[in-house]
Amino acid sequence: MKTLIAYFTMGGRTKKTAEAIANALTNYEVSYFPVELTGKFVEKIKMLDKFENKDFSAIETELNTLDAANYDLIIFGMPTYGNKPPQAFDEIVARIRNFSGKRAVVFNTARFTGGKALDYMKVKVEEAGAQVIDQSKFRKVFWIGEKNAIIFGKQINER
Ligand SMILES: Cc1cc2nc3c(=O)[nH]c(=O)nc-3n(C[C@H](O)[C@H](O)[C@H](O)COP(=O)(O)O)c2cc1C
Repeated sequence: MKTLIAYFTMGGRTKKTAEAIANALTNYEVSYFPVELTGKFVEKIKMLDKFENKDFSAIETELNTLDAANYDLIIFGMPTYGNKPPQAFDEIVARIRNFSGKRAVVFNTARFTGGKALDYMKVKVEEAGAQVIDQSKFRKVFWIGEKNAIIFGKQINER
């Protein structure tokens, strides 16, 4: 089976979690759709500001490649920004072709909260016609480990 993991990361915590989940997905061939803010802090903030204002011109080419047709499962991993994931999440869900009817998993990373943002992700994915088969929140104030992500990955793998 094939899975696409679409994640957004500014500080690396969501990427680390996505990769730990992927390592446990032994029944799947894993591909990534990473939206990674890179560079100096100020450059990351500028890009984040563009994305939050729905300017995705910097990743337009990548967004145009999004197609769920070749995958059995789509996994979305996002940080928590208030009660929502970043705007990039909505953009990815809106842009991914052939998504209706697919199986999906949503997870997010957070420092203090995260529950409402995860619910938001689930609702958006279901509104797009996909079925959320599993979900998880990874909440740690400081260092985010891999243990729980691997457990979650194994759980997905057995479904
Ligand atoms: C603009 C902004 C808003 C955030 N809002 C929240 C929040 O409401 N609740 C929370 O628990 N963490 C919040 N965080 C922390 C991130 O969600 C958390 O550190 C996440 O794991 C970062 O993922 P990343 O390292 O992949 O970018 C916020 C971070 C940023 C930059």
